[in-house]
Amino acid sequence: MGLKQTAVNLAGIKMKNPVMTASGTFGYGLEYADLIDLDKLGAIVTKTITPEPRCGNQQPRIFELPYGLINTIGLQNVGLERLLSEKLPALRKITRTPVIASIGGYTTADYVKSVKGLAGSGVAGIELNISCPNVKTGYKLKKTNYLTISQNPGKTYRLVREVKKNTRLPLIVKLSPNVTDITEIAASAEKAGADALCLINTFPAMAYAGSGKDKYSVPIFGGLSGPCIKPLALRMVHQVCRTVKIPVVAMGGIMNGEDARDFLQAGAVAVAVGTGNFVDPGIIIDIINALQDTDGLPPRHKDTKKKGIS
Ligand SMILES: Cc1cc2nc3c(=O)[nH]c(=O)nc-3n(C[C@H](O)[C@H](O)[C@H](O)COP(=O)(O)O)c2cc1C
Repeated sequence: MGLKQTAVNLAGIKMKNPVMTASGTFGYGLEYADLIDLDKLGAIVTKTITPEPRCGNQQPRIFELPYGLINTIGLQNVGLERLLSEKLPALRKITRTPVIASIGGYTTADYVKSVKGLAGSGVAGIELNISCPNVKTGYKLKKTNYLTISQNPGKTYRLVREVKKNTRLPLIVKLSPNVTDITEIAASAEKAGADALCLINTFPAMAYAGSGKDKYSVPIFGGLSGPCIKPLALRMVHQVCRTVKIPVVAMGGIMNGEDARDFLQAGAVAVAVGTGNFVDPGIIIDIINALQDTDGLPPRHKDTKKKGIS
């Protein structure tokens, strides 16, 4: 089975296969260049950048569970300027795989600044991260409780519409799973002009990260990812694929070819691998090979209404 049969077009981004990296789990791509063949990937999504660099949250920032990971990195990133002057040119020198830049921000102006800066940078598309649970980049609900932009359909609509006016690159909007009805948010993003959606970001979670007698003295709050979220992600992808016409990139606990196939079967055009990259940097290549070893991509079942979920 050749590469051709697995090629996909994601809102104008031509990918040789439907497997990409999930933002924040693959650095800026460069870090993995000695470990795997970057040319084999469908696309590389870089760590979310903000206009200014960020050093992220205090340690501990990662907590491993038997079934997943809690992270509270807090969008540590090099900022827009270094992405443009250093990371993207270096990445371009070592691979021809399409690169999608993930951007985040505190205000609409932040997002607009980044998309304007990325014009002519050679990136194939932009991922709009409006769903990170680990930073106060959203809006305040009461005094201390922050929600992300993608937890509100009106705010999602207004931000996406404004960003879309300022870029000609394909715009992929990344959604939070922490909502009552994800289809409502998905529809808002589509209406505002999103070219594609990607879901899901992590679930707000908590664990006690201390050990022994001190176990309960170190609570860690962060985003939950990995195999344990896969059924939740699959349900949301299934629902969103039946709500919007724009393509969907699916992620959430994809660890092998069968996981990837499940999401493609649910209607996703492409899939992204996140936590799996920390378990084994070669996992993404294994997933690509597994999809190619089977009968290419599964047929889409967008119109199939399954009992219980539609
Ligand atoms: C350590 C870590 C850092 C992450 N950083 C980002 C980020 O910068 N931007 C973003 O949109 N998502 C970020 N994510 C979320 C992932 O891209 C992905 O949406 C999520 O982890 C679900 O996929 P997975 O279960 O395969 O990890 C991060 C996830 C992890 C585990």
